[in-house]
Amino acid sequence: MSTLIRGGTVVNATGAVAADVLVRGEKIAALVAPGFEVQADTVIDATGKYVIPGGIDGHTHMEMPFGGTSSADTFETGTVAAAWGGTTTIIDFAVQAKGTSLLSTLDKWHAKADGNCAVDYGFHMIVSDVNDSSLKEMESCIDAGVNTFKMFMAYPGVFYATDGEILRAMQKARETGATVMMHAENGIAIDQLVAQALANGRTDPVQHGLTRPPELEGEATSRAIALAKVTGSPLYIVHLSASHALDAVTKARDTGQNVFAETCPQYLFLSLEDLAKPDFEGAKYVASPPLRPKEHQTELWRGLRTNDLSLVSTDHCPFCFKDQKELGRGDFSKIPNGMPGVEHRMDLLHQGVVRGELSLERWVEISSTTPARMFGLYPRKGVIAPGADADVVVYDPSAEQTLSAATHHMNVDYSAYEGMELTGRVDTVLSRGAVVVDGSGFHGGAGHGKFLGRDLNQYLI
Ligand code: URP
Ligand code: ZN
Ligand code: ZN
Repeated sequence: MSTLIRGGTVVNATGAVAADVLVRGEKIAALVAPGFEVQADTVIDATGKYVIPGGIDGHTHMEMPFGGTSSADTFETGTVAAAWGGTTTIIDFAVQAKGTSLLSTLDKWHAKADGNCAVDYGFHMIVSDVNDSSLKEMESCIDAGVNTFKMFMAYPGVFYATDGEILRAMQKARETGATVMMHAENGIAIDQLVAQALANGRTDPVQHGLTRPPELEGEATSRAIALAKVTGSPLYIVHLSASHALDAVTKARDTGQNVFAETCPQYLFLSLEDLAKPDFEGAKYVASPPLRPKEHQTELWRGLRTNDLSLVSTDHCPFCFKDQKELGRGDFSKIPNGMPGVEHRMDLLHQGVVRGELSLERWVEISSTTPARMFGLYPRKGVIAPGADADVVVYDPSAEQTLSAATHHMNVDYSAYEGMELTGRVDTVLSRGAVVVDGSGFHGGAGHGKFLGRDLNQYLI
């Protein structure tokens, strides 16, 4: 079975070129100069459109247990929504519960995802119980294709790891070539601020933001970087939201340390003002780190341009407003932390191109190529090139759309971007050569997506 994607502009991180893309089976077979005759079973007309590598969302939480409930997208609904938005690979987090092993955790997450995903997927591992045995098990996880380990400086009593525990895990990462991913917020200080706010009757969602000040993200980020320096471990800061944290990352990168960071669309487009929306609506925007005052956005866009921020993931962790976010009415600390977004990352980042914040190539780089290299999937993913998986998005840069819960495909009853008008929209999506989305609808299905064992981070120096 072959498909020719004809007449478009192929955009890779390295440049844009007019070319046709020939797909054979699951792979890209060739890029063909316009005008050369090529036979194919099917032709997709991409005239006036971009042809880009499928998006890779390196940070999602499907059906993740959190705060007494579970994120609302299953692996099936979440990956279908991802496909609609031009994301053809997700990397989700397996979550070690205290007292359990990493390998049994991995088995559990395989059981959740296997046969249920509409696009390809991999796993990171959340390490919440550092001991001799789990440190040893990190080696087996790496052999099983999971070589990125998330730790938390936040959430004492739940996921929190002490500096000593982080140091030990980083030593193991240094030994094995793994990367430690860090949720960098000073959870010990934050918990005091949260208790004080509640004791003073400050219970609204905006308090979530006010009790997690950007300085405490900056401090934790600096501390994580210091621990990585001492141990020689690669470090990847997840969901960076504050200029204070970006300053620390920039400094570390300028000294040549293996420190990387992602930010998320919510920190680029939403702000503390959304968290302050009245009548508990701010609960829709509760995630950690919290949305920041608008001035941080300028710095984040700058960081994306200068590569101090390497890429953008969603931290997709949806909880319905009704019954889930509502658990925190009268006590903001009980609002489940997380926001939906897996469907809109490619479109939102395209607004960066429309607004002149990013070049076209940088858009592709931060949404696909860099995630592929950072998470050991390149050149199988993240590039339109012969031999790569035929994960291809035909993107219409001039289509207009309005985001809304009424039309999105994520299994969540609100949109964080309700009413936002965007320029650009996904037209056709191929996942390993199969058309899963086109103008006539969704043609993929649960079970098409395959588990991706990943190589080590390809940026390590
Ligand atoms: O609020 C968030 N970010 N929820 C998901 C879990 C995490 O910390 O990434
Ligand atoms: Zn986190
Ligand atoms: Zn997350």
